[in-house]
Amino acid sequence: MANVTVIGAQWGDEGKGKVIDWLANRADVVVRFQGGNNAGHTIVVGDKTYKLSLLPSGVIQGKLSIIGNGVVVDPWSLLDEITRAQGQGLGISPDNLILAENATLVLPLHRDLDGAREARAGAGKIGTTGRGIGPAYEDKVGRRAIRFADLADPEALEVKIERLLAHHGALRAGLGLAEARPEEILDQLKQLAPKILPYVKPAWRVLGEAIKEGQRVLFEGAQATLLDVDHGTYPYVTSSNTVAGQAAAGAGVGPTAGGYVLGIVKAYTTRVGEGPFPTELSDETGRLLGERGHEFGTVTGRPRRCGWFDAVLVRQSIAVGGVQGAVLTKLDILDGFETLKVCVGYRLRGETIDYLPAGLRDQAAIEPIYEEMEGWSESTRGARSWKDLPANAIKYVRRIEELIGAPAVLLSTSPDRDDIIMMLDPFQG
Ligand code: GDP
Ligand code: IMO
Ligand code: MG
Repeated sequence: MANVTVIGAQWGDEGKGKVIDWLANRADVVVRFQGGNNAGHTIVVGDKTYKLSLLPSGVIQGKLSIIGNGVVVDPWSLLDEITRAQGQGLGISPDNLILAENATLVLPLHRDLDGAREARAGAGKIGTTGRGIGPAYEDKVGRRAIRFADLADPEALEVKIERLLAHHGALRAGLGLAEARPEEILDQLKQLAPKILPYVKPAWRVLGEAIKEGQRVLFEGAQATLLDVDHGTYPYVTSSNTVAGQAAAGAGVGPTAGGYVLGIVKAYTTRVGEGPFPTELSDETGRLLGERGHEFGTVTGRPRRCGWFDAVLVRQSIAVGGVQGAVLTKLDILDGFETLKVCVGYRLRGETIDYLPAGLRDQAAIEPIYEEMEGWSESTRGARSWKDLPANAIKYVRRIEELIGAPAVLLSTSPDRDDIIMMLDPFQG
Protein backbone atom coordinates (compact mmCIF):
# COMPACT_ATOMS: atom_id res chain seq x y z
CA MET A 1 0.00 0.00 0.00
CA ALA A 2 1.70 3.20 -1.15
CA ASN A 3 -0.17 6.07 0.45
CA VAL A 4 -1.00 7.07 4.01
CA THR A 5 -3.78 9.26 5.46
CA VAL A 6 -3.19 10.85 8.85
CA ILE A 7 -6.06 12.04 11.03
CA GLY A 8 -6.51 13.06 14.66
CA ALA A 9 -8.55 10.64 16.78
CA GLN A 10 -9.47 12.88 19.71
CA TRP A 11 -10.12 16.66 19.93
CA GLY A 12 -7.00 17.83 18.08
CA ASP A 13 -3.43 18.59 19.12
CA GLU A 14 -2.51 14.91 19.31
CA GLY A 15 0.85 15.58 17.65
CA LYS A 16 -0.21 15.17 14.01
CA GLY A 17 2.38 17.73 12.85
CA LYS A 18 5.28 15.87 14.41
CA VAL A 19 4.16 12.54 12.98
CA ILE A 20 3.48 13.93 9.48
CA ASP A 21 6.86 15.65 9.41
CA TRP A 22 8.50 12.35 10.38
CA LEU A 23 6.51 10.33 7.82
CA ALA A 24 7.12 12.93 5.10
CA ASN A 25 10.66 11.61 4.85
CA ARG A 26 9.16 8.44 3.37
CA ALA A 27 6.70 10.30 1.07
CA ASP A 28 7.00 12.25 -2.18
CA VAL A 29 3.97 14.51 -1.80
CA VAL A 30 2.08 15.82 1.24
CA VAL A 31 -1.47 17.13 0.74
CA ARG A 32 -3.65 18.86 3.31
CA PHE A 33 -7.33 18.11 2.75
CA GLN A 34 -9.51 20.16 5.15
CA GLY A 35 -9.55 22.82 7.87
CA GLY A 36 -7.74 26.11 7.73
CA ASN A 37 -5.58 28.25 9.96
CA ASN A 38 -7.53 27.02 12.97
CA ALA A 39 -4.94 24.23 12.96
CA GLY A 40 -1.63 24.74 14.74
CA HIS A 41 1.25 22.31 14.72
CA THR A 42 4.53 22.50 16.58
CA ILE A 43 7.39 20.55 15.06
CA VAL A 44 10.74 20.30 16.79
CA VAL A 45 13.83 19.35 14.81
CA GLY A 46 16.96 19.54 16.94
CA ASP A 47 17.28 23.13 18.13
CA LYS A 48 14.70 24.46 15.68
CA THR A 49 10.98 24.79 16.40
CA TYR A 50 8.55 25.29 13.53
CA LYS A 51 4.95 26.43 13.99
CA LEU A 52 2.77 25.52 11.04
CA SER A 53 -0.87 26.21 10.45
CA LEU A 54 -1.85 26.18 6.76
CA LEU A 55 1.37 24.88 5.26
CA PRO A 56 1.36 21.09 4.96
CA SER A 57 3.76 19.61 7.50
CA GLY A 58 5.80 18.16 4.61
CA VAL A 59 7.39 21.55 3.91
CA ILE A 60 10.05 20.99 6.55
CA GLN A 61 11.34 17.90 4.74
CA GLY A 62 11.13 19.90 1.47
CA LYS A 63 8.53 17.60 -0.09
CA LEU A 64 6.04 18.73 -2.73
CA SER A 65 3.27 20.23 -0.61
CA ILE A 66 -0.30 20.74 -1.73
CA ILE A 67 -3.09 22.70 -0.05
CA GLY A 68 -6.13 20.87 -1.34
CA ASN A 69 -9.55 22.15 -2.39
CA GLY A 70 -11.08 21.02 0.92
CA VAL A 71 -9.06 23.59 2.87
CA VAL A 72 -10.38 27.10 3.55
CA VAL A 73 -7.43 29.44 3.16
CA ASP A 74 -6.87 32.87 4.64
CA PRO A 75 -4.44 34.02 1.94
CA TRP A 76 -2.85 36.80 3.99
CA SER A 77 -2.21 34.41 6.81
CA LEU A 78 -0.74 31.90 4.34
CA LEU A 79 1.63 34.52 2.87
CA ASP A 80 2.76 35.46 6.40
CA GLU A 81 3.36 31.82 7.19
CA ILE A 82 5.39 31.34 4.01
CA THR A 83 7.52 34.37 4.89
CA ARG A 84 8.07 33.09 8.43
CA ALA A 85 9.00 29.63 7.18
CA GLN A 86 11.39 31.08 4.61
CA GLY A 87 12.93 33.14 7.43
CA GLN A 88 13.64 29.84 9.20
CA GLY A 89 15.49 28.60 6.15
CA LEU A 90 12.74 26.51 4.49
CA GLY A 91 12.83 26.78 0.70
CA ILE A 92 9.17 27.42 -0.14
CA SER A 93 8.27 28.51 -3.66
CA PRO A 94 5.66 27.78 -6.35
CA ASP A 95 7.94 24.90 -7.37
CA ASN A 96 7.17 22.96 -4.20
CA LEU A 97 3.95 24.51 -2.85
CA ILE A 98 0.66 24.26 -4.72
CA LEU A 99 -2.63 25.83 -3.74
CA ALA A 100 -5.73 24.26 -5.28
CA GLU A 101 -7.46 26.69 -7.64
CA ASN A 102 -10.83 25.47 -6.36
CA ALA A 103 -10.02 26.08 -2.68
CA THR A 104 -12.12 28.67 -0.82
CA LEU A 105 -10.78 31.95 0.55
CA VAL A 106 -11.28 33.03 4.14
CA LEU A 107 -11.85 36.80 4.11
CA PRO A 108 -11.74 39.40 6.90
CA LEU A 109 -15.56 39.43 6.86
CA HIS A 110 -15.54 35.75 7.89
CA ARG A 111 -13.42 36.56 10.92
CA ASP A 112 -15.74 39.47 11.77
CA LEU A 113 -18.72 37.13 11.69
CA ASP A 114 -16.99 34.41 13.73
CA GLY A 115 -16.05 36.96 16.40
CA ALA A 116 -19.42 38.72 16.49
CA ARG A 117 -21.37 35.47 16.80
CA GLU A 118 -19.16 34.11 19.54
CA ALA A 119 -19.34 37.39 21.46
CA ARG A 120 -23.14 37.29 21.37
CA ALA A 121 -23.55 33.59 22.10
CA GLY A 122 -22.97 33.90 25.85
CA ALA A 123 -23.04 30.47 27.46
CA GLY A 124 -23.82 28.93 24.05
CA LYS A 125 -20.50 29.89 22.54
CA ILE A 126 -18.42 27.22 20.82
CA GLY A 127 -15.02 28.60 21.73
CA THR A 128 -13.84 28.81 18.13
CA THR A 129 -10.35 29.88 17.17
CA GLY A 130 -11.87 33.08 15.79
CA ARG A 131 -10.27 32.56 12.40
CA GLY A 132 -13.49 32.70 10.37
CA ILE A 133 -13.40 29.01 9.53
CA GLY A 134 -17.10 28.27 10.12
CA PRO A 135 -18.40 31.28 8.15
CA ALA A 136 -16.04 30.49 5.24
CA TYR A 137 -17.31 26.91 4.99
CA GLU A 138 -20.88 28.20 5.21
CA ASP A 139 -20.26 30.44 2.18
CA LYS A 140 -18.64 27.55 0.31
CA VAL A 141 -21.64 25.31 0.83
CA GLY A 142 -23.93 28.28 0.19
CA ARG A 143 -22.32 28.61 -3.28
CA ARG A 144 -21.30 32.23 -2.83
CA ALA A 145 -17.63 31.83 -1.79
CA ILE A 146 -14.65 33.40 -3.54
CA ARG A 147 -12.24 30.73 -4.77
CA PHE A 148 -8.59 31.13 -5.73
CA ALA A 149 -9.27 30.77 -9.46
CA ASP A 150 -11.50 33.87 -9.20
CA LEU A 151 -8.48 36.03 -8.40
CA ALA A 152 -7.34 35.71 -12.02
CA ASP A 153 -10.58 37.22 -13.31
CA PRO A 154 -11.22 40.71 -11.80
CA GLU A 155 -14.51 41.23 -13.65
CA ALA A 156 -16.08 38.03 -12.43
CA LEU A 157 -14.61 38.75 -9.01
CA GLU A 158 -16.52 42.01 -8.82
CA VAL A 159 -19.81 40.20 -9.47
CA LYS A 160 -18.96 37.50 -6.93
CA ILE A 161 -18.19 40.09 -4.26
CA GLU A 162 -21.56 41.77 -4.87
CA ARG A 163 -23.26 38.40 -4.45
CA LEU A 164 -21.32 37.60 -1.31
CA LEU A 165 -22.14 40.97 0.21
CA ALA A 166 -25.84 40.62 -0.55
CA HIS A 167 -25.71 37.82 2.04
CA HIS A 168 -23.20 39.30 4.48
CA GLY A 169 -24.79 42.76 4.38
CA ALA A 170 -27.92 41.45 6.06
CA LEU A 171 -25.96 39.44 8.62
CA ARG A 172 -23.66 42.33 9.47
CA ALA A 173 -26.57 44.74 9.91
CA GLY A 174 -28.27 42.26 12.23
CA LEU A 175 -25.13 41.84 14.32
CA GLY A 176 -24.40 45.56 14.46
CA LEU A 177 -21.22 45.30 12.38
CA ALA A 178 -20.14 48.12 10.07
CA GLU A 179 -21.20 47.79 6.45
CA ALA A 180 -18.67 45.93 4.29
CA ARG A 181 -17.54 47.93 1.25
CA PRO A 182 -17.30 45.95 -2.01
CA GLU A 183 -14.68 48.25 -3.53
CA GLU A 184 -12.44 47.77 -0.49
CA ILE A 185 -12.63 43.96 -0.77
CA LEU A 186 -12.02 44.10 -4.53
CA ASP A 187 -9.02 46.30 -3.96
CA GLN A 188 -7.60 43.96 -1.28
CA LEU A 189 -8.03 40.95 -3.55
CA LYS A 190 -6.50 42.71 -6.56
CA GLN A 191 -3.43 43.52 -4.47
CA LEU A 192 -3.29 39.96 -3.23
CA ALA A 193 -3.63 38.29 -6.65
CA PRO A 194 -0.07 38.71 -8.00
CA LYS A 195 1.40 37.40 -4.72
CA ILE A 196 -0.77 34.31 -4.42
CA LEU A 197 -1.57 33.33 -8.01
CA PRO A 198 1.89 31.82 -8.72
CA TYR A 199 0.97 29.05 -6.24
CA VAL A 200 -2.54 28.48 -7.64
CA LYS A 201 -2.91 25.41 -9.85
CA PRO A 202 -5.28 22.54 -10.63
CA ALA A 203 -4.01 20.53 -7.67
CA TRP A 204 -6.05 17.46 -8.56
CA ARG A 205 -4.12 17.12 -11.83
CA VAL A 206 -0.72 17.38 -10.14
CA LEU A 207 -1.79 14.84 -7.55
CA GLY A 208 -3.33 12.53 -10.14
CA GLU A 209 -0.10 12.55 -12.16
CA ALA A 210 1.97 11.88 -9.04
CA ILE A 211 -0.20 8.90 -8.14
CA LYS A 212 -0.05 7.56 -11.70
CA GLU A 213 3.74 7.73 -11.54
CA GLY A 214 3.69 5.67 -8.36
CA GLN A 215 4.77 8.48 -6.05
CA ARG A 216 3.94 8.13 -2.38
CA VAL A 217 1.33 10.55 -1.09
CA LEU A 218 0.72 11.52 2.50
CA PHE A 219 -2.77 12.93 3.12
CA GLU A 220 -2.71 15.37 6.03
CA GLY A 221 -5.79 15.89 8.17
CA ALA A 222 -6.18 18.75 10.65
CA GLN A 223 -8.35 18.87 13.80
CA ALA A 224 -9.74 15.45 14.68
CA THR A 225 -12.69 13.07 14.63
CA LEU A 226 -14.39 14.41 17.76
CA LEU A 227 -14.36 17.86 16.09
CA ASP A 228 -15.82 16.44 12.84
CA VAL A 229 -19.00 18.27 11.83
CA ASP A 230 -20.88 14.95 11.52
CA HIS A 231 -19.14 12.59 13.92
CA GLY A 232 -17.91 14.97 16.60
CA THR A 233 -19.51 16.49 19.68
CA TYR A 234 -21.84 18.68 17.61
CA PRO A 235 -22.34 21.65 17.81
CA TYR A 236 -19.01 21.94 19.64
CA VAL A 237 -17.05 20.99 16.53
CA THR A 238 -15.30 22.60 13.60
CA SER A 239 -17.10 23.13 10.30
CA SER A 240 -15.45 20.42 8.19
CA ASN A 241 -15.32 16.65 7.97
CA THR A 242 -12.06 15.63 9.56
CA VAL A 243 -12.31 11.86 9.07
CA ALA A 244 -10.21 9.93 6.57
CA GLY A 245 -13.17 9.74 4.20
CA GLN A 246 -12.67 13.45 3.56
CA ALA A 247 -9.13 12.96 2.23
CA ALA A 248 -10.34 12.00 -1.24
CA ALA A 249 -12.94 14.75 -1.64
CA GLY A 250 -10.68 17.40 -0.11
CA ALA A 251 -7.72 16.56 -2.33
CA GLY A 252 -9.43 15.60 -5.58
CA VAL A 253 -8.63 11.89 -5.83
CA GLY A 254 -10.65 8.68 -5.69
CA PRO A 255 -11.80 7.07 -2.44
CA THR A 256 -9.17 4.34 -2.53
CA ALA A 257 -6.17 6.67 -3.01
CA GLY A 258 -5.80 7.47 0.68
CA GLY A 259 -4.20 4.14 1.47
CA TYR A 260 -3.37 3.19 5.04
CA VAL A 261 -5.33 5.20 7.63
CA LEU A 262 -3.28 6.29 10.60
CA GLY A 263 -5.00 7.81 13.65
CA ILE A 264 -2.98 10.00 15.99
CA VAL A 265 -3.87 9.34 19.61
CA LYS A 266 -2.57 11.20 22.64
CA ALA A 267 -1.85 9.01 25.67
CA TYR A 268 -4.33 11.14 27.68
CA THR A 269 -7.09 13.51 26.54
CA THR A 270 -7.18 17.25 25.86
CA ARG A 271 -9.67 19.66 24.40
CA VAL A 272 -9.62 23.41 23.60
CA GLY A 273 -12.87 25.36 23.58
CA GLU A 274 -16.30 24.44 24.87
CA GLY A 275 -18.21 21.16 24.76
CA PRO A 276 -18.55 17.85 26.58
CA PHE A 277 -15.46 16.10 27.92
CA PRO A 278 -16.39 13.06 30.05
CA THR A 279 -12.94 12.39 31.53
CA GLU A 280 -12.00 16.01 32.17
CA LEU A 281 -10.07 16.56 35.40
CA SER A 282 -10.53 19.90 37.09
CA ASP A 283 -8.26 18.88 39.95
CA GLU A 284 -4.52 18.83 40.62
CA THR A 285 -4.00 15.87 38.28
CA GLY A 286 -5.58 17.77 35.39
CA ARG A 287 -3.44 20.78 36.14
CA LEU A 288 -0.33 18.58 36.27
CA LEU A 289 -1.11 16.96 32.90
CA GLY A 290 -1.51 20.42 31.36
CA GLU A 291 1.71 21.70 32.88
CA ARG A 292 3.81 18.67 32.00
CA GLY A 293 2.31 18.37 28.53
CA HIS A 294 2.61 22.13 27.83
CA GLU A 295 -1.05 22.04 26.93
CA PHE A 296 -1.62 25.51 25.55
CA GLY A 297 -3.21 26.06 22.14
CA THR A 298 -0.71 26.78 19.35
CA VAL A 299 -3.20 29.09 17.61
CA THR A 300 -4.87 30.95 20.46
CA GLY A 301 -2.61 30.29 23.46
CA ARG A 302 -5.66 29.14 25.45
CA PRO A 303 -4.97 26.50 28.12
CA ARG A 304 -6.21 23.09 26.92
CA ARG A 305 -8.60 21.17 29.16
CA CYS A 306 -6.99 17.89 30.27
CA GLY A 307 -8.20 14.49 31.43
CA TRP A 308 -7.59 10.76 31.51
CA PHE A 309 -7.46 8.64 28.38
CA ASP A 310 -10.96 7.93 27.09
CA ALA A 311 -10.88 4.61 25.25
CA VAL A 312 -14.60 4.79 24.46
CA LEU A 313 -14.18 7.94 22.42
CA VAL A 314 -11.05 6.77 20.64
CA ARG A 315 -12.65 3.41 19.79
CA GLN A 316 -15.57 5.32 18.27
CA SER A 317 -13.19 7.60 16.30
CA ILE A 318 -11.33 4.59 15.02
CA ALA A 319 -14.55 2.96 13.90
CA VAL A 320 -16.07 5.96 12.09
CA GLY A 321 -12.72 6.96 10.59
CA GLY A 322 -11.68 3.52 9.40
CA VAL A 323 -8.39 3.88 11.27
CA GLN A 324 -6.10 0.89 10.72
CA GLY A 325 -3.20 1.80 12.95
CA ALA A 326 -2.65 4.26 15.79
CA VAL A 327 0.26 6.47 16.73
CA LEU A 328 0.33 6.89 20.48
CA THR A 329 1.92 10.24 21.38
CA LYS A 330 3.06 11.98 24.57
CA LEU A 331 3.48 8.77 26.52
CA ASP A 332 6.36 10.53 28.31
CA ILE A 333 3.93 12.99 29.91
CA LEU A 334 2.55 10.12 31.99
CA ASP A 335 5.98 9.33 33.50
CA GLY A 336 5.89 9.47 37.28
CA PHE A 337 2.13 9.08 37.85
CA GLU A 338 1.58 6.46 40.53
CA THR A 339 -1.69 5.28 39.04
CA LEU A 340 -3.29 5.97 35.68
CA LYS A 341 -6.95 5.80 34.86
CA VAL A 342 -8.45 4.78 31.55
CA CYS A 343 -12.14 5.23 30.74
CA VAL A 344 -13.52 1.94 29.46
CA GLY A 345 -17.26 2.66 29.37
CA TYR A 346 -19.94 5.13 30.49
CA ARG A 347 -22.76 4.91 32.96
CA LEU A 348 -25.94 6.60 31.75
CA ARG A 349 -28.96 6.64 34.09
CA GLY A 350 -28.02 3.34 35.64
CA GLU A 351 -27.12 1.60 32.37
CA THR A 352 -23.66 0.86 31.00
CA ILE A 353 -22.95 1.99 27.44
CA ASP A 354 -19.85 1.66 25.26
CA TYR A 355 -20.25 4.66 22.94
CA LEU A 356 -20.86 8.42 23.12
CA PRO A 357 -24.55 9.17 22.62
CA ALA A 358 -25.29 11.99 20.16
CA GLY A 359 -27.77 13.91 22.32
CA LEU A 360 -26.42 16.80 24.39
CA ARG A 361 -28.51 15.88 27.44
CA ASP A 362 -27.12 12.33 27.42
CA GLN A 363 -23.59 13.59 26.81
CA ALA A 364 -23.87 15.81 29.88
CA ALA A 365 -25.32 12.97 32.00
CA ILE A 366 -22.79 10.21 31.28
CA GLU A 367 -20.25 9.23 33.89
CA PRO A 368 -17.00 7.56 32.97
CA ILE A 369 -16.25 4.05 34.20
CA TYR A 370 -12.54 3.84 34.97
CA GLU A 371 -10.04 1.05 35.01
CA GLU A 372 -6.96 1.79 37.12
CA MET A 373 -3.47 0.88 35.99
CA GLU A 374 -0.18 1.04 37.79
CA GLY A 375 2.05 3.85 36.52
CA TRP A 376 5.83 3.88 36.10
CA SER A 377 8.51 5.99 37.75
CA GLU A 378 11.14 5.63 35.02
CA SER A 379 11.51 8.18 32.21
CA THR A 380 10.24 7.26 28.75
CA ARG A 381 11.15 10.64 27.30
CA GLY A 382 13.19 10.24 24.15
CA ALA A 383 12.85 6.44 24.08
CA ARG A 384 13.49 5.06 20.59
CA SER A 385 13.01 1.38 21.16
CA TRP A 386 10.57 -0.92 22.97
CA LYS A 387 13.33 -2.18 25.17
CA ASP A 388 13.79 1.36 26.57
CA LEU A 389 10.24 1.32 27.92
CA PRO A 390 9.37 0.28 31.49
CA ALA A 391 7.15 -2.81 31.77
CA ASN A 392 4.17 -0.80 33.04
CA ALA A 393 4.41 1.62 30.10
CA ILE A 394 4.29 -1.35 27.73
CA LYS A 395 1.28 -2.70 29.63
CA TYR A 396 -0.44 0.68 29.27
CA VAL A 397 0.15 0.71 25.50
CA ARG A 398 -1.03 -2.89 25.11
CA ARG A 399 -4.20 -2.24 27.11
CA ILE A 400 -4.98 0.84 25.01
CA GLU A 401 -4.52 -1.16 21.79
CA GLU A 402 -6.94 -3.73 23.11
CA LEU A 403 -9.52 -1.17 24.16
CA ILE A 404 -9.45 0.98 21.02
CA GLY A 405 -9.37 -1.93 18.60
CA ALA A 406 -6.29 -0.88 16.63
CA PRO A 407 -2.57 -1.62 16.94
CA ALA A 408 -0.11 1.11 17.96
CA VAL A 409 2.18 1.15 14.94
CA LEU A 410 4.23 4.14 16.10
CA LEU A 411 4.95 5.60 19.51
CA SER A 412 6.11 9.16 20.14
CA THR A 413 8.13 9.91 23.25
CA SER A 414 9.14 13.59 22.99
CA PRO A 415 8.46 16.64 20.81
CA ASP A 416 11.62 15.96 18.80
CA ARG A 417 11.27 14.57 15.28
CA ASP A 418 13.48 11.55 15.87
CA ASP A 419 12.03 10.36 19.16
CA ILE A 420 9.73 7.75 17.68
CA ILE A 421 9.44 4.00 18.08
CA MET A 422 8.27 2.25 14.92
CA MET A 423 6.55 -1.12 15.07
CA LEU A 424 5.26 -1.02 11.50
CA ASP A 425 5.99 1.30 8.55
CA PRO A 426 2.56 2.73 7.63
CA PHE A 427 3.68 3.01 3.98
CA GLN A 428 4.15 -0.76 4.01
CA GLY A 429 0.95 -1.32 6.00
P1 GDP B 1 -1.19 18.78 16.25
O1 GDP B 1 -2.13 19.93 16.12
O2 GDP B 1 -1.91 17.46 16.28
O3 GDP B 1 -0.11 18.80 15.20
O4 GDP B 1 -0.49 18.91 17.65
P2 GDP B 1 0.15 20.24 18.30
O5 GDP B 1 1.45 20.52 17.64
O6 GDP B 1 -0.85 21.35 18.33
O7 GDP B 1 0.31 19.79 19.81
C1 GDP B 1 1.13 18.72 20.15
C2 GDP B 1 2.24 19.25 21.09
O8 GDP B 1 2.88 18.16 21.69
C3 GDP B 1 3.33 20.00 20.35
O9 GDP B 1 3.83 21.01 21.18
C4 GDP B 1 4.40 18.94 20.09
O10 GDP B 1 5.70 19.48 20.00
C5 GDP B 1 4.26 18.10 21.32
N1 GDP B 1 4.53 16.66 21.13
C6 GDP B 1 4.24 15.85 20.07
N2 GDP B 1 4.56 14.57 20.35
C7 GDP B 1 5.04 14.57 21.61
C8 GDP B 1 5.51 13.52 22.49
O11 GDP B 1 5.52 12.34 22.17
N3 GDP B 1 5.93 13.91 23.74
C9 GDP B 1 5.90 15.22 24.14
N4 GDP B 1 6.31 15.50 25.36
N5 GDP B 1 5.47 16.21 23.35
C10 GDP B 1 5.03 15.88 22.11
P1 IMO C 1 -5.17 21.00 15.21
O1 IMO C 1 -5.08 20.72 13.74
C1 IMO C 1 -7.72 21.67 18.69
C2 IMO C 1 -11.55 23.66 17.99
C3 IMO C 1 -11.72 25.04 18.59
C4 IMO C 1 -13.21 25.02 18.88
C5 IMO C 1 -13.78 24.25 17.70
C6 IMO C 1 -14.32 25.13 16.58
O2 IMO C 1 -4.10 21.86 15.73
O3 IMO C 1 -5.36 19.75 15.98
P2 IMO C 1 -13.15 26.60 14.70
O4 IMO C 1 -12.23 27.78 14.81
O5 IMO C 1 -12.58 25.45 13.94
O6 IMO C 1 -14.52 26.97 14.21
O7 IMO C 1 -13.35 26.11 16.23
O8 IMO C 1 -12.72 23.46 17.20
N1 IMO C 1 -10.37 23.49 17.11
C7 IMO C 1 -9.26 22.84 17.48
N2 IMO C 1 -8.91 22.29 18.66
N3 IMO C 1 -6.89 21.57 17.63
C8 IMO C 1 -7.23 22.10 16.43
O9 IMO C 1 -6.50 21.90 15.32
C9 IMO C 1 -8.45 22.80 16.33
N4 IMO C 1 -9.09 23.44 15.32
C10 IMO C 1 -10.26 23.85 15.82
O10 IMO C 1 -10.95 25.19 19.75
O11 IMO C 1 -13.46 24.26 20.03
MG1 MG D 1 -2.60 21.68 17.12
